[in-house]
Formats: sequence, C-alpha cells, structure tokens
Amino acid sequence: MARSNHGLMSWIDARFPLTETWEKHVSKYFTPNNFNIWYYFGSLALLVLVIQFVSGVFLTMNYKPSAQEAFGSIEYIMRDVEWGWLIRYMHSTGASAFFVVVYVHMFRGLMYGSFKAPRELIWIIGMLIYLTLMAEAFMGYLLPWGQMSYWGAQVIVNLFGTIPVIGPELALWIRGDYVVSDATLNRFFALHVTLIPLVLIALVIAHIAALHKVGSNNPEGVEFKKDKNQDVVPAGSVPFHPYYTVKDTFGAVAFLLVFCAVMFFAPELGGYFLERENFVPADPLATPEHIAPLWYFTPFYSILRAVPNPFMGVVAMGTAVLILFFLPWIDRNPIKSVRYRSPLHKLNLLIFAVAFIVLGYLGTEPARPLLAELAARFSNIYFLFFAVLWVHSSPRSAAFKIGWFITLLIAVVLFDLVLRYSEETASLMFTALLIPVAYLAVMLLLPLFTRLGQDKPVPEQLSAAVV
Ligand code: HEM
Repeated sequence: MARSNHGLMSWIDARFPLTETWEKHVSKYFTPNNFNIWYYFGSLALLVLVIQFVSGVFLTMNYKPSAQEAFGSIEYIMRDVEWGWLIRYMHSTGASAFFVVVYVHMFRGLMYGSFKAPRELIWIIGMLIYLTLMAEAFMGYLLPWGQMSYWGAQVIVNLFGTIPVIGPELALWIRGDYVVSDATLNRFFALHVTLIPLVLIALVIAHIAALHKVGSNNPEGVEFKKDKNQDVVPAGSVPFHPYYTVKDTFGAVAFLLVFCAVMFFAPELGGYFLERENFVPADPLATPEHIAPLWYFTPFYSILRAVPNPFMGVVAMGTAVLILFFLPWIDRNPIKSVRYRSPLHKLNLLIFAVAFIVLGYLGTEPARPLLAELAARFSNIYFLFFAVLWVHSSPRSAAFKIGWFITLLIAVVLFDLVLRYSEETASLMFTALLIPVAYLAVMLLLPLFTRLGQDKPVPEQLSAAVV
C-alpha cells in the first residue's frame, strides 16, 4: 500500500507540484513557536468563509430574488425546506461571526504591529478584504426583504446621494430605480452570490500568498532568522504542520462550540444578529421609527450621525474606514509588539478598542441628545487615536508634544463650532469637551513629567524554546 501510494505520489509529482506545494506551504513552512490565542483568528476567518459559502449555496437553491417572493421564500426555507432553518441560521450567524473574527484579527494586527514592514501589503490586502466583506454583508442584508433590509438599504444608498454633483445620479445608478425596488434586489442578489464572493476568494488567496512570502509576525514582534537550508528548523520556529494544524483544529472546535450555541439557542442574539423589525415584510410606505444597521456597521454609523451635515458625515465615516489603510505609515515605531511599547501606547490601544465598542453600542440606539454628544466625543477619540499613534511613533521633544496637544485641541474645537454647534446643546457640548481634552492631556502631556511614554528594550531574537 505504502509502495503504491509512493508510486501514485511520484506519478502526480512528475505532473503537478503537490508534494512541493505541501512542503513549501505546510510541512516545511516555518512559523514562530510562540503564537497565542490571538493567532487563532486568521484560520477561524477561513473557517467562517467556508461556512458562508456552503450555507449560501444551499440557501440559493430555495431563495427567490424578487420583491414579490423574497420574504416568502425565506419563510418557506425556515418552515418547509428540510433543515432549511439550520442552513439559514448558519448563514445569518456566520455573517456576524465573520465580523467578530475579523475585528479580533485586525486588533491582533494592531497590538503586535503586524501591519509594519515587511507586512504592509498583508495589511492592505486585509483592508481590501474588509471593504469587500462590508459590501457583501450590506447586499446580503437586503435579500430577506424585511423592513430593516429595505429601509437600511434605502438609508445607505441615499448616503451616496449626498455627494455633490454626481451624488443623485450615483444613487440612482446603484438602485437601478428611484427607490429601493425589485431592480435593486435583483442586482444585489447577483453581486452577493457571484462577483463579490469571487473577489473575496481572490483577495484571501493574495492575503495568504503575501503572508507566506514574508512569514508571520508573532506576539513578541521579533523575527526569527531563516536558514538558507530549507530543511533546518530555524531557532524560535516550528513547522506549520503538525504544530499549528493541530493547534488551529483545537481553536476551530472551541469556536464551533460557541458558534453552535448561538445558532441553536439564540440565533437572533437579542436582536443583534437578526433584528426583530426584519421579521416584518418590507413596506415602502411605512418607515420604521428607528433605522439602524446591524452591529458590525454601527461604530461607523455613529461617526456618520455625529456630524449633522449629511455629506460631511459621509466624509467622516469614509475617512474612519480609509484611515486604517494608512496604519503602516502612521505608526512608524520600529518596535512592533505592544509588549515592548510604552504604558501610554498600551493605554491608547485599550481606549481605541473601548471607543470602537462604545460607538458600536451608540449606533444601535436612537440619537437622544446625551447619546449623540457621547457619539461625537468618542468619534473624536477614534480619530485622535491615529494622531497620538503618529506622535508616539518616534522620540519627540517636549515642544513638539505640546505643539500637537494645542493643534489637536484646536481641531476638535473647530469641529464643534463649524460642524455641529447648536444653541440648545451648547452647554452639553462644552462639558463633554472634557473627554477629548483629558485624553489628549494624558497621551501628550503626561509623558513630559513621567516615564509612562517610554518603550522597553526589545530582545534580538526569538528564543529557541517552545513557549
Ligand atoms: C476573510 C477574511 C480574512 C481571512 C480569511 C484572513 C486570513 C488570515 C490568515 C489565515 C492569516 C495567518 C494566521 C494568523 O496570523 O492569524 C492572516 C494573517 C494576517 N491577516 Fe488576515 N485574514 C482576513 C482578513 C484580514 C483583515 C481584514 C486584515 C486587516 C485589515 C488582516 C490582516 C492580517 C495581518 C496583518 C496578518 C499577519 C499577522 C501576523 O503575522 O501577525 N486580515 N490572515
């Protein structure tokens, strides 16, 4: 048997690079030996991608992409198609799980400086994946043709209409009609099941190709030295197989336990994964009282709403996403891992994560004055994070830090006065100004009097011991 296998493999290898590819990318692909729990999420994103494809194909077999039948066909899948409810919940839970996994994956990159040289392209391709994923989720959400599907799409497509000159024509072109309609549903369906998934797969392949060109970063942010001889395992590394194939399988099982718990016992997850309003068929004549996108878009939706002028809101929201592309050039500190960065950098990262979550929560709530003010202030923090990151990325003089403290403060006050001043909320606005002032004072002035802004020495090489 072994002999015939060997014979078969030689036959294949003479015609197709099977063993060569396996060795290059798996069994002799060396990876740092100190990956921790945060390193599960890349392989989990791959797993969710597969779940979405498989469940998506089966959903498509019974779904009807027409305004007349879409809502009913989902009900039919849920009630009459064998295992239809499971397939549908797998896909809806998978959509949210995708964003959970990708957000954690991105935050890991931020923590360990995985976007820095030589991995800038892995990050940029990752950001393209993220944008594509947003488009995929947005179009998929219209398909059940419920109230939130319909009105959510209406609101988002109208945002394109705020762009000066070309806006109205652009919105019309996207919808294919003057309002969201059957034509819109048809094109969103076509894009959701063909073009966008293809782009997604191509980008994921490019992402992993770029990763395998330069190798993984790790929680220490220190590179291991590769040996010229491919068969020698470099100090501080292990072959991907069997070490990480086994580790990632463990991660996948743990993830699937949580995934199944949600899918079987709480598929709506309190309205966060499936909104209550979306169990009502789309009605173009009845606008819901409170329209909000699903949770994974709400941090950016909060930023949009924080600016009263619709077009400037769109600019702020777009900038909030696009700025992430430039991280490799914003944070130029040669130290990659948060482990060796200053206490203030650690705090900055933590505040950014909290601001993102708070913005996410505020985006799900109706805009009452206090909540709207908080959204504006956490939007300030979201953008100030990048400025502070840049200031912290190399040793700076006291005058430089004070200069930036004053400049950023002026920017925040100008934003308040020019873009969102109103007499009714003026006192609330000035009281809440304390939030960005305190943030900037801690991040830029505190290091002048303490050692909290100082980074730590970084070891030269990863240890050979498996941690
Ligand atoms: C479908 C979505 C995605 C898939 C399937 C995916 C897959 C992967 C895999 C398998 C890895 C190697 C394992 C690991 O380091 O966890 C990885 C690494 C990486 N990914 Fe992604 N990824 C996705 C989205 C993203 C996004 C949105 C970003 C950032 C914007 C990103 C940035 C990175 C970076 C910087 C690395 C290298 C990490 C390091 O070496 O420390 N990825 N990705």
